[in-house]
Amino acid sequence: GVDDRVRDLLGRMTLEEKIGQMTQIAVVRLQGDCRESGGELTEACLRTVLRGHAVGSVLSGGGMGPPVNTPRAWARMVNAVQKYALDHSRLRVPVLYGIDAVHGHHSVLGATVLPHQLGLAAAWDPELVRDCAGATARAVAATGIDWNFAPVADLARDRRWGRYYETFGEDPLLAGALAAAAVRGTEDAHGAKDVASTVKHVGGYSEPANGHDRVPADVSPRYLQDTLLAPYRTAVEAGAKSVMVNSGAVNGVPATASHHLLTTILRQRWGFTGVTVSDWQDVRALWTTYKVAADYPHAIALAVNAGVDMAMEPYEAGEFTEGLRSAVQGGLVSRRRIDEAAGRVLRLKFTLGLFERPFTDAERADGEVLGAAQDTARRAAASSLVLLRNERNILPFGPSARRIVVAGSYADDIAAQTGGWTVGWQRVPEDVKVPGTTVLAGIEAAAPAGTRVVRARDAADAVRQARTADATVVVVGERPAAEGEADSPRPELSPDQQELVRSLKETGRPVVVVVIAGRPLALGEAAGTDGLLMSWLPGTEGGHAVAGVLFGGVNPGGRLPVSWPRRTGNEPLYYQQLPGTNAGAESTHDVAYDFGDGLSYTTYRFEALGLEAATVPAGRDARVTVRVANTGGRDGDLVVPVYVSRPVSRVLAPRRRLVAFTRTRLRAGESCTLRLTVPARALEVTPGDLDGAGTPRVEPGTYTAAVGARTATLTIT
Ligand code: IFM
Repeated sequence: GVDDRVRDLLGRMTLEEKIGQMTQIAVVRLQGDCRESGGELTEACLRTVLRGHAVGSVLSGGGMGPPVNTPRAWARMVNAVQKYALDHSRLRVPVLYGIDAVHGHHSVLGATVLPHQLGLAAAWDPELVRDCAGATARAVAATGIDWNFAPVADLARDRRWGRYYETFGEDPLLAGALAAAAVRGTEDAHGAKDVASTVKHVGGYSEPANGHDRVPADVSPRYLQDTLLAPYRTAVEAGAKSVMVNSGAVNGVPATASHHLLTTILRQRWGFTGVTVSDWQDVRALWTTYKVAADYPHAIALAVNAGVDMAMEPYEAGEFTEGLRSAVQGGLVSRRRIDEAAGRVLRLKFTLGLFERPFTDAERADGEVLGAAQDTARRAAASSLVLLRNERNILPFGPSARRIVVAGSYADDIAAQTGGWTVGWQRVPEDVKVPGTTVLAGIEAAAPAGTRVVRARDAADAVRQARTADATVVVVGERPAAEGEADSPRPELSPDQQELVRSLKETGRPVVVVVIAGRPLALGEAAGTDGLLMSWLPGTEGGHAVAGVLFGGVNPGGRLPVSWPRRTGNEPLYYQQLPGTNAGAESTHDVAYDFGDGLSYTTYRFEALGLEAATVPAGRDARVTVRVANTGGRDGDLVVPVYVSRPVSRVLAPRRRLVAFTRTRLRAGESCTLRLTVPARALEVTPGDLDGAGTPRVEPGTYTAAVGARTATLTIT
């Protein structure tokens, strides 16, 4: 078995070779010209890194790729790295190649770009997420890459945080279920080669105290355990082969140095057996930034002893490998721990079949990637759209909409639609053209014969044209960016865009706002239009999806996976806010649109809610049945969320807590009964006073389950 092969190989390896397996180097360090997006591999660099330091893994961080970004160029480059590694490794150990393909294989020119995670979350559809992750993994595999740094299982609770859009929303149950689906979709994809997923960034990364990426988080042990860690756990339990560590510090401890997090919780409580990789240069940061170690060897020892198996881009390979060697020789790190960490990396390589099939057929890469996954991307974008306002049923446009004005610069902006992490790290570089359908192009393609689409040249032209239009679609948004550059202290629509929408409203003619953004933006003067459609960062097929909703080819079924505030200033914001004495809901949860909101072109009714058993022992799953009906005139998708609340709870409880959900398709007039499971864990809370946290458990007592206005009483004994 694999374990025997690992043991055998480890038995033949030197300490230096084992340490090499624990090292991951950015591909630019194999290239003579270390620019972010290019440079050819050079023998001198390959020799130093792969032969000299026996490095076991290489990565392309956001956008770092071959100079010519075609799939074939990628596959050839990865094959070349692999060939060099094998030819120069004493024991012919292949390298593991990692990449951030967080919404399709988006570093590759011509690859379909899927919606970012937050948009997918709005679809509330694990199967869809699974399909998207599978499509991504197959594209990644076709270019020879084995390891994807996705999904993100962090939560979206602070809109100021630049990585908000990379998450599956604010709710731990929803985010966990979707991250688990992404893990399965990746690990089960079976394309040209198997691909490992990465649950990141364990744990508690998403709540930097002031909203800026990687600023330390200070959270209560209870909140950490019950809320922030829950989605990682669900995703890890779905079979993720690796996790990536949070770059920040939580409660005064850098996650990279946290034995409690990386060993006690991750390994011992959750049973994780895969590879733990640090984030970018973070092992070194324990010494240089956090200063919790006096020198590099001590920093390395801290991280490795806490549970880090592999250091991502430790700055300079030799410095790390030498530092770890001296840490071992000085007794700071045991040889047993080295065998454990290197053994996990080797096990991953064996499991992925890398020893048997280290190469991919580069000549097939273009065929397998270009044009692939377009249907999945279009379906994903369409499912993720959330219709938030539809006054007087302005949408979908009917035959009377004969002249439609399209305004706003975002109507024609593929870089905005695809967001951060597309071709380049921050966004599509200006000199690169990514093929895709903009909202304008989508509208032009979908407008029925007899409808004239007029593109407004600028704001003044938009207002002039709008006066005589049957409707104006104004596409607004925010500039795409990634990580810290996407942080924003005031996540709201820019003043010029607010002014444009305000002027359009003043014409008295119908105005529909389409938002392209990675977070809910406070709309200010732009609020209150006839129509409001959130399209998130919908990817290269987004224009077709948006046009589908505008003209009725798509019946919107997405629901907000986050709370949409009325104004900026009350971050973090989430519906599971605990009660406070200061004025109730307004001060704590002042939303324009709530978590779970979203309109449809048909109407639904929740007809009945039943419990399979009204009394359930603590620790057992509960089962509910929900009778739903499509009472309107159109087929459509309905999201069915089941919440629980506590009439009385010893542990402070939110007003409602999502415990189960599904999305189902219902034809006009159709009704059906759905069965949903409420996992025991969804009811768990951590008891204890404010000085610490106990073990999570389900409190016996009364629970009210609710679907819409239907309720049922569940007793836990
Ligand atoms: O995977 C990413 C991570 O999300 C942020 N830091 C860099 C890593 C590799 O690119």
